[in-house]
Amino acid sequence: MRSYGVSFFGLGYVGLTMAACFASKGFKVIGYDVDEGKVRSLREKRAPIFEPGVEGLITDAGDLLQATDDPAEAVSASDFIFITTGTPSRSDGSIDTSYVRSAAKAIGEMMKGSDRYRVIVVKSTVVPGTTAGPIRAELEAASGLVAGKGFGLVMNPEFLKEGHAVDDMFKPDRLVVGEVDPRSGDSIVRLYDEFYDRHPPPAIRTTLENAELIKYANNSFLAIKIGFANSMARVCQTIPGGDVDVVMKGIGLDSRIGPDFLRAGVAWGGSCFPKDLRAIRAFAAERGVKLRLVDASLETNEEGPLEVVSACEKAIGGLKGKAVAILGLAFKPDTDDTRESPAIRMGLEFMRKGANVRAFDPVVRLAPPGFTISEGPLSCIEGTDLAVLATEWKALREIRPEAFVKMMRNAVVMDTRRAYDRSSFAAAGVRLLQLGRG
Ligand code: UGA
Repeated sequence: MRSYGVSFFGLGYVGLTMAACFASKGFKVIGYDVDEGKVRSLREKRAPIFEPGVEGLITDAGDLLQATDDPAEAVSASDFIFITTGTPSRSDGSIDTSYVRSAAKAIGEMMKGSDRYRVIVVKSTVVPGTTAGPIRAELEAASGLVAGKGFGLVMNPEFLKEGHAVDDMFKPDRLVVGEVDPRSGDSIVRLYDEFYDRHPPPAIRTTLENAELIKYANNSFLAIKIGFANSMARVCQTIPGGDVDVVMKGIGLDSRIGPDFLRAGVAWGGSCFPKDLRAIRAFAAERGVKLRLVDASLETNEEGPLEVVSACEKAIGGLKGKAVAILGLAFKPDTDDTRESPAIRMGLEFMRKGANVRAFDPVVRLAPPGFTISEGPLSCIEGTDLAVLATEWKALREIRPEAFVKMMRNAVVMDTRRAYDRSSFAAAGVRLLQLGRG
């Protein structure tokens, strides 16, 4: 057993993954959530969300990982209390901090009258000034203590990718620690030193505000990078023999650019990039700063699904009354998350243009009204005029060209990730359109 007790307020994919990883390393962990369903599921050793590897860690952790809906239980047993609640978008793009503030208030109330030094760690993505402002204020008002004296306060952004969160937790590139005072920062560095068995990743120690901004700058930069690849893909498509993968490989080998996050597709989706780019844009605008690159990236991203649908429309000579199969609904493989998924956005656009849309995803079973969910990939493509590989799940990448020819009314396939082999598809008689290839 390790020396510290750790708790997580909010059991989404970040809180849950972190809780499971900490417990697997021998820490005594308590996960708290207001959602009784999540608490019950964790007590029964089931992951309340789909995140590869997490359920195994939960099972292995045994009694080291507890779940509760009582904040007193979580706070009393903990030296480190992580706030891992969501910060959803409001209609103007700014973030709704009500969940983080209510977590801070609940934690503060439970610390009242206690002289044990605890460190509150803000993991939720919040705009600069939120930790030092409303979060600190809630904690201090409810506890009667002062940050930096009665308790420690740290802003420690997360960089976990959905679907790869466990791996990212165990092998991060760096830790970012924004601290209210050196004692708070030293404490969390000691916790991670133990978590990483004395081989922690490099840590950047800074102010609370810089740490908050690093998270937004990071996600914005990555989204711009992918958006750039997506734009180049459109150019490649107009050049005979053009291939965006070759072009991105060519630039990625320049060490100043790097090879990651250059895989072109329809658009980036998920719960993080869209929300974070809108939030940092709103935050900067309030200060009279225009983030033109962020604007351009959001705009390019809006257009992506519409452009792909138009290209398909042209290829099959109109969409009215046509049957379209969408393969994959999650915003990327290995997750059940469909938030801002390009697959869904393409499906809606196909419908708007008069097509009937069927969809299959290995994990997702729910879609907006109008989508017919198929039980398998083959029943999904059966009798259709067009199949779109939207999310490159392994099971979907492995569909053989002969299956498309056999099952579809007209074997036309739009491969948005260049997952299918051109020559074997051509040999089998499939008309294969590939995003980013001329
Ligand atoms: C992103 C960041 O990568 C994480 O570091 C961060 O912690 C997280 O947001 C967050 O803020 O919580 P996530 O949204 O889970 O993680 O997924 P990514 O793997 O980054 O993918 C985002 C979107 O970009 C997906 O639609 C994906 O398909 C797309 N993408 C990614 C590409 O189209 N090409 C690429 O090369 C990489």
